[in-house]
Amino acid sequence: MNIPDDAFYALLTQALQRRAEETLQRTLYHALRQAILKGTLHPQCRLPGSRTIAQQLHLSRNTVNAALEQLTTEGFLLRDRQGSQVAALPQATVSSPDSHPVIGLSPHLNLLPPGTRRDSPTLAFTPGMPAVNYFPLPLWRRLLDRVLREEGSMLLGYGDSAGEPSLRVAIARHLALSRGINCDASQIVITEGAREGLNLCTQLLSERGQLAWLEDPGYFGARSAFIAAGLAFRGLPVDEEGMCFQTMDVSAPRLIFASPSHQFPLGTLMSATRRLALLEFARKAKAWIIEDDYDSEFRYSGVPIPAMLGMVPDAPVVYLGTFSKTLFPSLRIGFMVMPKALAASVQPAIESLLRGGHRAEQRALALFIEEGHYARHLASMRRLYRKRQTQLRAALKEELTVPHQVSAGEGGMHLTVKIAEIDDGAVVDLARQYQMAPAALSRFYLDPACGETGLVLGYGNTSASGFASGIRVLNRLIAQTRPGRG
Ligand SMILES: Cc1ncc(COP(=O)(O)O)c(C=O)c1O
Repeated sequence: MNIPDDAFYALLTQALQRRAEETLQRTLYHALRQAILKGTLHPQCRLPGSRTIAQQLHLSRNTVNAALEQLTTEGFLLRDRQGSQVAALPQATVSSPDSHPVIGLSPHLNLLPPGTRRDSPTLAFTPGMPAVNYFPLPLWRRLLDRVLREEGSMLLGYGDSAGEPSLRVAIARHLALSRGINCDASQIVITEGAREGLNLCTQLLSERGQLAWLEDPGYFGARSAFIAAGLAFRGLPVDEEGMCFQTMDVSAPRLIFASPSHQFPLGTLMSATRRLALLEFARKAKAWIIEDDYDSEFRYSGVPIPAMLGMVPDAPVVYLGTFSKTLFPSLRIGFMVMPKALAASVQPAIESLLRGGHRAEQRALALFIEEGHYARHLASMRRLYRKRQTQLRAALKEELTVPHQVSAGEGGMHLTVKIAEIDDGAVVDLARQYQMAPAALSRFYLDPACGETGLVLGYGNTSASGFASGIRVLNRLIAQTRPGRG
């Protein structure tokens, strides 16, 4: 052997002493295997005979033989009449269990924005978090139970790649009534939320290196999807009419991501003139608009604004919808709606890329919509959120002592409060200690250092009784973290 006998036995004895649940044979096997992989036992070195090892370690010979045989079967040892010899293996480095090597990912992924934590539905002011405690859970349980009882194991196989047909039909009916979109089930693909819809758009409609436009400030998820797909992207500013774009731009994009009904996070409604101009531009440039309609079911003044997809025939638009805001985020059900011609072209790709799952949830959701529970839930949440928004505005007026400007109030579940020259990132980091999770406005800009500062306050999940005290704490944190203070 290349190591002294006593070192060899000490190594195995230590392993046997540290043994927890494993059998003696398994422990011996692992200790020898590790010593070979680490190079502690060199290739071609001969081990003592099994009888000697058994005597030294006070084990039965069968135990030792079984461990040596397993190592021989796996090619770590060669056994002949004289005993066992370590095989000549290619050099391998084994990291110690307590080291954490940094594994290099594809370099373009270093550009991904940091993920946002949304781990608790109860942290006050979390943007985009609905009032999950108002969701009719007993009814949902009954519907799930009903589909499982009626269809049983038939629902346990793979489903349609585009999602359950009954859900797609229900969504098509709902969209016609609420969003002015006339489509049929064949134009709809069920996704794992709007995020998967976005990823699918990049896979189906773009090539690496092509250009995508997005709103700046805007939704992190779009940036992540474009980066992951290897697209180049450009942020376009947002004014009172929505995304500002130059039709003279020399490099036309392939994808244009926009939230025209309620721009995230500023809340602007894209004007009809701008929508039509964008549609016309996209048509000419052979670009696709990805319309993120994440919270437009909640609109509190005027009539609902129809979606861009329904504005003109064959609009070059893929519409993304989600139930994360209207029902609950962990449902992870969203959908994309495509113009008929596009839907027909992408169908083979959808069948190749996706496997239908979550069938029971999708069936239960179809019943939830068809039986009128969805419309009722939406109406009651609309009332709740409208009231909460009014109360939050009042609390801000009363309690927020720094100069500020409130926007994003026509609908949705958040207000964006612009507050100049604050360290909004530091405020939101500290706010977690007080069970609050507002978002920093600057973090929604491609370059936070050049963006406006302020707080995005979600009120969907926050009871009005906590508004005044929460804002008083935020006031304090703003003062405490003022740049240049101290
Ligand atoms: C602007 C915006 N769009 C879309 C979504 C929807 O995401 P998903 O359906 O994947 O939950 C969110 C969720 O936070 C969002 O803030």
